[in-house]
Amino acid sequence: MKSIQLKPSLLSAVLLLGGGFYAANAVPTSAPKSYPDGEVGRMVKLGEAIMNETDTHPLTKEYVGNKLKCKNCHLQGSDGKPGTASGIATWIGTATAFPAYSKREKSVQTLQDRSNNCFMRSMNGKRIPVDSEASVAMATYITWLSTGMPIKQNTKMPCSPMNSDRWMGGAKHFAKIQKKATHANYVSGQKLYDTKCASCHGMNGEGMGTFPPLWGQDKHGQWLAYNTGAGMSKLNKGAAWVKSNMPLGQGGTLSDQEAADIMLYVDAQPHADFNLEDRLPPKVEMGVYNSKVLKEQHSVRSNFKAFGLDIDTIRGDHAIK
Ligand code: HEC
Ligand code: HEC
Repeated sequence: MKSIQLKPSLLSAVLLLGGGFYAANAVPTSAPKSYPDGEVGRMVKLGEAIMNETDTHPLTKEYVGNKLKCKNCHLQGSDGKPGTASGIATWIGTATAFPAYSKREKSVQTLQDRSNNCFMRSMNGKRIPVDSEASVAMATYITWLSTGMPIKQNTKMPCSPMNSDRWMGGAKHFAKIQKKATHANYVSGQKLYDTKCASCHGMNGEGMGTFPPLWGQDKHGQWLAYNTGAGMSKLNKGAAWVKSNMPLGQGGTLSDQEAADIMLYVDAQPHADFNLEDRLPPKVEMGVYNSKVLKEQHSVRSNFKAFGLDIDTIRGDHAIK
């Protein structure tokens, strides 16, 4: 019998983007059955609680600048624990990859550094001291999720082996789609959003109850969601995450074009500007911020420009200032 040979590129495209998203079967979806003993166990439980209540937890709320919790993007798997769902951004395997190289910071990052980048960007907040009980507790929780898995430090990106291929592959794939976007894609994204997403996230992206916000500010001017430095705010990466994880419980059901159009719409709505310097202490040195890149700025406008798109043309008569 003749064996069928798939080209590696084709094979990985099928694995990455095929109907059921390969990872849905390949990635474990639960934490270890029991907590570690003693003080380590207490820290795992504290970390877990912080992931579930980050914006209101007494140890982390002052570092969060929106209404999000880590678990809103690092979703709960079959065991109900944050970061154990199989989609992109699972924390299963994450600890095995660190310390890992990050191109964005041009430095080797620890797990605590990586979490702090989500504090500054996805949580629209500030870096939490790595010596703090909360920072150690979050790292202890994430590390526990990789119990029994072999260490394989990632020399290319600060990412779990469960995430790296589909995150990088998804980003590349969706970049090609987004570069071709027009106003028609924006209109289609709005329609799709209204029918497939707004029932949980609100017509104005404001969120509802336990359904988290996607954009905008509250009546006091407080930002509700991720800022323009976050992965979710990048048209390609946001689409990759959404394709993998949303609508809730139905990850992998949107077509690539649908995921792209929806995030073209969502990421064209108001999100806080990101200026790295504003989020760091005045004198940055090693031990304060582990990065060789000390200047970085983004806005909704620049995030569109990064794909060769003009936000005003894309939004058409819905143009924002
Ligand atoms: C708005 C969405 C969002 C929120 C909220 C968020 N993150 Fe993330 N996080 C991401 C995305 C997107 C990635 C990159 C995807 C990936 O690496 O799989 C990521 C990656 C990470 C990683 C690396 C995971 C890996 O293996 O690749 C860690 C660790 C992490 N986040 C920690 C946190 C912590 C801790 C919090 C809460 C303080 C948090 N994140 C909140 C979106 C978010
Ligand atoms: C049935 C309700 C539901 C639907 C429908 C739904 N989501 Fe979500 N979404 C959620 C919940 C709940 C979370 C947070 C998960 C958690 O905390 O466990 C979430 C998280 C998110 C996040 C990351 C957190 C944030 O606020 O930035 C994004 C982005 C997102 N959803 C986009 C979408 C898009 C786009 C659609 C439509 C294709 C969609 N969702 C449809 C319930 C839903």
